Amino acid sequence: MNEPLDPSRRPPDTPAPAPDAGAAADALTPAALQRHLRSAVFGHRIFYYPTIDSTNERALELAAAEEPEGSLVLAEEQTAGRGRRERSWSSAPYAGIYASLILRPAIAAPRAPLLTFMAAVAVADALNEVAGLRARIKWPNDVLVGGRKIAGVLGEMRGSHPEVREMVVGIGINVNQAETDFPAALASIATSVRVERGAPQDRAVLLASVLEGFERRYARLLRDGPATLLREWEALSSMPVGTPIAVGGPAGRLDGEFAGIDEDGSLVVRTRDGALHRHPFGEILDTFLP
Ligand code: BTN
Repeated sequence: MNEPLDPSRRPPDTPAPAPDAGAAADALTPAALQRHLRSAVFGHRIFYYPTIDSTNERALELAAAEEPEGSLVLAEEQTAGRGRRERSWSSAPYAGIYASLILRPAIAAPRAPLLTFMAAVAVADALNEVAGLRARIKWPNDVLVGGRKIAGVLGEMRGSHPEVREMVVGIGINVNQAETDFPAALASIATSVRVERGAPQDRAVLLASVLEGFERRYARLLRDGPATLLREWEALSSMPVGTPIAVGGPAGRLDGEFAGIDEDGSLVVRTRDGALHRHPFGEILDTFLP
């Protein structure tokens, strides 16, 4: 396992191993992030790695070792970044944001998907506010710009309990990748802030905004429940209620129209006979937007 570059844990006179000079100028170090951080707790305790297999994997280990809520694992590169549905997450060095946050919410396990929704809302909101984009969310938590994926969220837990004891929310954002930085298979379906704006984006400013927005929504969810979050999600949704969709899940393909999101974050599909079907997991296979 790589050793973290966490300044608060290093003996004071041990120099941090520096990345190469070009990369160092753009490094998303704990100091760079903390210069912009306005959150109260989230992201104040940082485990920083120039290279790691997966920030989610490391955060799960740290969560099991009792690291407190709000601790953040941050990497400049992932060699085994993972996405939903056992996909990999392309993690070009010093280009994207690869971050995993440890949470200890006192909510029932079936509501855990709300936390990944919340991360998607915080990411889309930050992309729109900080980078001036028009980011939208595709259920459950893909963040798209112009129909191309710019960010994704992966929530993971170990063990099965009726309540969420600890959870890791991993956030991957394509920030300063050029089009040529994506593998060929992603070339037509992925984008980055730099591609969309035509200019690079300071990753620390963007991540600080995500963490602040996430923390604010998290406190509100625990205090008031999910109603406001669901409204925000729907306002950022890439498809309006009533859009014809096809959904894939454990029971196979289901065709119908998008009928909204329920209080656990499940996608609700209305089929032609008027019946409502809840999809807690799965994926939108197709939307048939005009
Ligand atoms: C998806 O859209 O499939 C989810 C992608 C999540 C990627 C992030 S990058 C940081 C964290 N570490 C991982 O290994 N995955 C998540």
